[in-house]
Amino acid sequence: MRGAKIIGTGKALPPRVVTNADLTKLMDTTEEWIVQRTGIRERRFVDPGTGAAALGTEAARAAIAAAKMEPRDIDFIVFATVSPDYFFPGCGVYVQEWLGLPTIGALDVRTQCTGFLYGLSVAEAYVKGGFFDHVLVIGAEVHSTGLDLSTAGRDVSVIFGDGAGAAVVGPAEPGDGILSSHMHAEGKYAKDLMLEAPASIEHPRLSHEMLDAGRQYPKMNGRYVFTHAVRRFPEVIREALAANGFSLEDLSIVIPHQANLRITQAVAGALGVPVEKVFSNIEKVGNTTAASIPIALDECIEQGKIRKGDLVCLAAFGSGFTWASTLIRW
Ligand code: COA
Repeated sequence: MRGAKIIGTGKALPPRVVTNADLTKLMDTTEEWIVQRTGIRERRFVDPGTGAAALGTEAARAAIAAAKMEPRDIDFIVFATVSPDYFFPGCGVYVQEWLGLPTIGALDVRTQCTGFLYGLSVAEAYVKGGFFDHVLVIGAEVHSTGLDLSTAGRDVSVIFGDGAGAAVVGPAEPGDGILSSHMHAEGKYAKDLMLEAPASIEHPRLSHEMLDAGRQYPKMNGRYVFTHAVRRFPEVIREALAANGFSLEDLSIVIPHQANLRITQAVAGALGVPVEKVFSNIEKVGNTTAASIPIALDECIEQGKIRKGDLVCLAAFGSGFTWASTLIRW
């Protein structure tokens, strides 16, 4: 069977920077609290009119250009997001339209912070199996329009930001590129990080009462998320290494989902690797859910942190709970 590798990456960050000081004008919080608990100093918010599909399309154009390809070379689209422009259809169809592509398929993935890695595994399987030659994988989020930016929502809303990242996956020599993907889910913790409304189990799925109760905003059991994340991240990174006969010493860099700086530091500690080996850009972009890994990957490439031959591990944990890793020989 042939291999599959990432041949181009790109990102799109909205220009509007929202600092912690800006948030203190909206809610009862402080710069110190946010930096100390999350490591975040600023994030980006879109201006009205820009949705996840538009950000994702911009990131996709950059990834296709980096791969030295044309949009028409793409055979299939995978779009990961928890903040689609509309309840339906998914965002992938807009990318197909806006890139001017023929009637290729477009699949939306809904696994929250692990969305990009689940999506990448789909691309990996399609390319390795010979179904498609070039698959575009996008992670994009517009959180800012769905956050409670009052004091009532401060524990959640200071964490999240908007952005998009994308990668083009194409054929590789066997043993080169994406070595393996590992995905897990534990639905019994679904309620510990969720957004309830609109909800098709409700009649109607959105009511004034639901809005008055704030059920359209994400809810998070922060401590629970933290405790599970610091266990699952190291576990799934070790799983990827073991599946391919590698040890921690072989790893060049870990690019984790940017959940929270304290989580990233705890993961480095649990693995016993220097913190510099675990990439972080959360200070500047916040937590961008499905977009965070492709944005971070693109930055690593831009900054020359990844060289040919490096062993790179991508890892994520988030709502669901779901967690995942991808091991790549670059
Ligand atoms: N600014 C100031 N104070 C805040 C605040 C904010 N933005 N958010 C919460 N607080 C307050 C709380 O009201 C609470 O006050 P009290 O003690 O008077 O009741 C206090 O800070 C501590 O709250 P708590 O929720 O116990 O804090 P914590 O130490 O658990 O930290 C998180 C909260 C969210 C930072 C932490 O739980 C965490 O990092 N969890 C993981 C979250 C995550 O990474 N999510 C993304 C997953 S993909």
